[in-house]
Amino acid sequence: MTYQALQPSDKLLLGPGPASVEPAILRAASLNVLGYLDPEFVTIMDETMELLRAVFRTSNELTLVVPGTGMAGMEAAVYNTVEPGDKVVVAVNGFFGERIATIAERAGGEVTVVRYPWGQAVDPSDLVKVVREVRPAILACVHAETSTGVLQPMAEITRMAREYDCLLLVDAVTSLGGCPLEIDKWGIDACYSGSQKCVGALPGLAPLTLGPRARAKLAARRTPVASWYLDLTLIEKYWTGNPRAYHHTAPVNLIYPIREALRMALDEGLENRWARHLLNARALRAGLRGLGLGLYSEDDVMLPPLTPVLIPDGVEDAKVRTAMLNEFGIEIGGGLGDAKGKIWRIGLMGYGSQRRHVLLVLTALEQLLLRFGHRAEAGAGVAAAGAMYDAAAKAGS
Ligand SMILES: Cc1ncc(COP(=O)(O)O)c(C=O)c1O
Repeated sequence: MTYQALQPSDKLLLGPGPASVEPAILRAASLNVLGYLDPEFVTIMDETMELLRAVFRTSNELTLVVPGTGMAGMEAAVYNTVEPGDKVVVAVNGFFGERIATIAERAGGEVTVVRYPWGQAVDPSDLVKVVREVRPAILACVHAETSTGVLQPMAEITRMAREYDCLLLVDAVTSLGGCPLEIDKWGIDACYSGSQKCVGALPGLAPLTLGPRARAKLAARRTPVASWYLDLTLIEKYWTGNPRAYHHTAPVNLIYPIREALRMALDEGLENRWARHLLNARALRAGLRGLGLGLYSEDDVMLPPLTPVLIPDGVEDAKVRTAMLNEFGIEIGGGLGDAKGKIWRIGLMGYGSQRRHVLLVLTALEQLLLRFGHRAEAGAGVAAAGAMYDAAAKAGS
């Protein structure tokens, strides 16, 4: 059997991630391989940690990237903070909150799940009643629910974690680099993300940060962390030890691009980057409404990197997504779990969050909706998005 040389085609990734990658960041993956303890590489690790602290807005020393995708970050955060018998409250309003609860159970936690409707934020005035009763060691939630396009307001939840003296564990897989996230100011104790979304790097790494309270709990454990590979007391000896000790072979050529992606995010300025994600998402939402489509999450909890749009009656989910991919070279996502078949998920993350991508996806969607039976006014989507950009330019934002 003969195989052709590998040549994946050039697609625009506007789904829930991975997002399309800035060419300079992609090129960084092809730079020379260095040994995992080469002094030159150790310097790159140090720089990556420094850059990551700035992007997470934290001074936490234990701020690094774990090998593996966002799920490795979730497992690392949960396995290191939860000990068998610990009470854990997980606020769930979508697919990824459920996963935190599942993993906390596997870690031996006594888990109480508090569920909220998909497409809505967690209601802190309700959650607090459970926290008051259970008095958990750990309270966990998802900051950016990628399954529903909801950005969780954090102020009351962070206050609750302080008042009831529990560690706050937060999933920021889709928010880091795309929405305001302030680890130190908000008092988040453990937080993880993924490299492939708003951070703008390649899939395969999980940025993670652990604050002093979480580290103290880790140091005081009565039982070893159940996962050897994700045991942060071992991983940190490789990332920050003196001398550095081998733990695993670092995915060197994934760390180059995330170092570059973080550097470029800070060059852009985090506030500017958040504003870019917000403006493009507002324009996209305006355009979708212009096409007569409904949205699955309300504007007041909208998640700028991920817009969930309701599939109109009579239109087949898969037909539109397949034609979008094959004819326009654009990937958008389908729904997960409860939202499967009900929504499309359009991601504007990192390099993907650009005005031209908004206009392109609206144009493609309009064409396909007209073909597959949804009545929309021709050009109305792009016009509404354009009006949003014009208004923002006038307002000077
Ligand atoms: C909110 C959230 N948490 C966790 C994950 C898991 O990340 P990964 O698929 O990179 O393992 C995802 C992935 O989309 C996510 O959106």
